[in-house]
Parts: sequence; structure tokens; C-alpha cells
Amino acid sequence: MATAREKQRSSAEFARAERAAKYILSKTRLRPRIGLVLGSGLGAFADDFTSATRIDYKKIPHFPVSTAIGHAGKLVIGKVGDVAVAGMQGRVHFYEGYSMKDVIFPMRVFSRMGIRAVILTNAAGGINTGYKQGCLVVIRDHINLQGTNPLIGPNDERFGLRFHDMTTAYWKPYADAALQEGKRLGVDIYEGVYGALTGPSYETPAEIRYMRTIGCDLAGMSTVPEVITARHMGIKVLGISCVTNMAAGVLDQPINHVEVLETGERVKSQFVALLRAMIPRIAADVAR
Ligand code: HPA
Repeated sequence: MATAREKQRSSAEFARAERAAKYILSKTRLRPRIGLVLGSGLGAFADDFTSATRIDYKKIPHFPVSTAIGHAGKLVIGKVGDVAVAGMQGRVHFYEGYSMKDVIFPMRVFSRMGIRAVILTNAAGGINTGYKQGCLVVIRDHINLQGTNPLIGPNDERFGLRFHDMTTAYWKPYADAALQEGKRLGVDIYEGVYGALTGPSYETPAEIRYMRTIGCDLAGMSTVPEVITARHMGIKVLGISCVTNMAAGVLDQPINHVEVLETGERVKSQFVALLRAMIPRIAADVAR
């Protein structure tokens, strides 16, 4: 049973999310139903939103501010075509020392803003040897190897159920559509299972062999806490990884963060084309 103090803490999380959402919505007349988390290198996509309002994370009440390289740290509310979206230019990671409650706070805020679907993007290491550096992978499912769950602690029923379903974590119609659009656009695109570790070190070759054995196609350090939280609140999820490098031991070479960033940069235009194709399709779904 949750103690009175724990209950107070969870209701504080709700109030904080509400306050942040109100602040954001007071800065724009748009009312987006789609949220995007733009991972390493992809943030620039939000620079192209039209009718845009840009808000520094540090101005948003309670919002965590990222220290990672390649993350602008702005929330951009604007339009892609005629669809209103909220785009996060970068996210905070557990490995930066933030609590899980901080890592998932933006999802809580999205929900209080009325967001009903999210597109979560990330950079990942390719474990599946059928992948190539620079390809995109539509996430079908995940394995949480972070050793914790962001929802540990008292549950606030205003967000969702204590025990929520994860069989539909990655919304199948969105994943199917993303694969279809990717192929239509001529993108090198696959599907797979994302395995999340905390980082910040990359994996050892033995860890990657272990992950392959248990069914992971990708290794990454983000996304899973956000997916768990989005589903807690009934938000539909599309997850897409960019394979910035083959995972440890797959190729006979060490992994270097600069190369990870460079690959992300190289495939950015394909990634953005896929996002542009998916946004109207998701908008049609959430408008219903
Ligand atoms: N492992 C984990 N996370 C990553 C990797 C990787 O190889 N590449 C980019 N993010």
C-alpha cells in the first residue's frame, strides 16, 4: 500500500505535469495531438515547423534539461504541412543522472496537453546482422534491460492503471504504415526489437551476443521508459531507430560516438522524409 507521503508525491507529479502543460499551451494557439521526440541529430527537423513557437526546456516549469551533445533542448510547437505537432529537440537520459520520473516527465506533460500519439526516435546499435549502418528500423517491440521501470512507486489513477497492458506497446497500424512509407520513399528500412540498457558505456561484445540470443535486434539507451509511460496514459506509439553503428563485436572495430553522430547526420534527410510521410497518417487516426 502507498503511504500518505507516497500518495502526495504522485499527486505532485500530476500537478507538475498540469502546470507545465498549461504553461506550454499559454504560448501557442495550436493544440497538437501528435508529439515527437527527436533524438540525437534529428532535432533540426523541428526548425522547419511552420507557425512555430519555440520554448526552451529551462523555461518550462519542472521540465528536465538535457546535457547530451547534439540536443538543442527546445520544445517546438508548430505545423508540419497542416498538422499541428509538438516536437522535442532532444530528451534527457537516465545515464545523465536524471531520475526515471524526470526522464518520463515530458510524456506526462504531453498527455496533459492532449497529445494522443507520439513518434519516438533514437539512435541505436544494430545487433541484427541483416541491418546496415545508416538504416532505419521500425520498432515492433522492446526488451527492458534498464533494471528498473519508470512507474515504480505509487500509481496515480488519473494517469492510468496500476498494471497496464504492454502487448500493444508499439501501435501495429503505425508500424505497418511506417514500413510501407519507408519502402515507398526508397529508404533502407527494417523492423525489429529494441533492447534498452542504461548506458552510458556502449555494450561489450558478450552483452551484444546475449541481447541477440534473447531476441534484441537493436541496442539503445532511451525510448523504453517513454513508451512504458505513454502506454500507461493510452498514448499510441510509433518508434523508429536509426542504426548509427553496428553494435559491439558485430564488426571488427570499436564504437565511437563521433561516428554515431555522423551517421545520424547522413541519414537525417531520409528520416525526416519518413516523419513527414507519417505525420498526416497518424493525424488522420488521432482525429477520429
Ligand atoms: N549501443 C547502445 N546505444 C547506442 C548505440 C549502441 O551501439 N549506438 C547508438 N546508441
